[in-house]
Amino acid sequence: MDPKATRSELDRGLRAPVATIAAKYLYDALGSKLFEAICELPEYYPTRTEGSIFSTHLSDIARSTGRGATFIDLGAGNCAKAESLFHALQPTQYVPIDISVDFLRDAVERLRYRYPMIRMMGIGMDFSHSLELPQSVRREKRLFFYPGSSIGNFSPEEAAGLLGQVRDACGADGGLLIGVDLLKDKAVLDAAYDDAIGVTAAFNLNMLRHLNGLIDADFDVADWKHRGFFNEAMGRVEMHLEARRSVTVRWRDGMRHFHQGERIHTENSYKYTRHDFLQLLERAGFGTVRAWTDAREWFMVCHARAL
Ligand code: AVI
Repeated sequence: MDPKATRSELDRGLRAPVATIAAKYLYDALGSKLFEAICELPEYYPTRTEGSIFSTHLSDIARSTGRGATFIDLGAGNCAKAESLFHALQPTQYVPIDISVDFLRDAVERLRYRYPMIRMMGIGMDFSHSLELPQSVRREKRLFFYPGSSIGNFSPEEAAGLLGQVRDACGADGGLLIGVDLLKDKAVLDAAYDDAIGVTAAFNLNMLRHLNGLIDADFDVADWKHRGFFNEAMGRVEMHLEARRSVTVRWRDGMRHFHQGERIHTENSYKYTRHDFLQLLERAGFGTVRAWTDAREWFMVCHARAL
């Protein structure tokens, strides 16, 4: 996204009746590192649970996806999840895509040396806007990889749209390997998004520092506190930043007064039932789906084939 479009998106969000900033702005270089730290937390079960599903069912998953794919990693981050599948899936081309370009560049450099037989092509882009891939990305056997339940950060309608775009970009012999977080006890979800040592709080608050850089805003992080909780009625975890006191914030194109307790909505993380998510894949135009879960049924990995 060009800087002007970014500025107007942020300006609109900050002026909205309920101030809302898209979750993608959580991920500057520091935000991406903080997210890595979240994945290590005892309370944050998704990464570990998804990892255990992959290690338990790896050969079955590889049988389902086949080998030699053009492996396209959506929101690749440090590329570690994809790397852990290289041996089993043996992709011929690896295409990690992430909005945080600097973070991606370092990860790809490291991988190039380790896997000289896989062609690597890192792409810095916001695929939530468009999934138009460069010509150099092979069209055959495209296997999109979207782990970590990042699909949950879109509303179900947006998720259906994004999955539809992935389906269109797949080609006839392509597919999608995706991880999705399942509905569970509120207490487990509350703890996962409001951990005891405050890493998730730092991750959320860092968005304000990122905004200061992007639109010359004057957010003082000390004026805000993290809120993260499961909203049962909406079937989603929500993150907000709440004003500790009454504050006025100025940025390049505007200003806003926030009352004490007023919130900026920074993230939704939708949780699905198995049935609802499989329906979403079907709505997006995918055909056969194979699904694997852990023993507690907290998380699900699906391989969906393009119809
Ligand atoms: C990236 N995404 C799937 C994470 C989630 O669980 O929704 C982001 C996150 N937010 C707070 N903790 C983790």
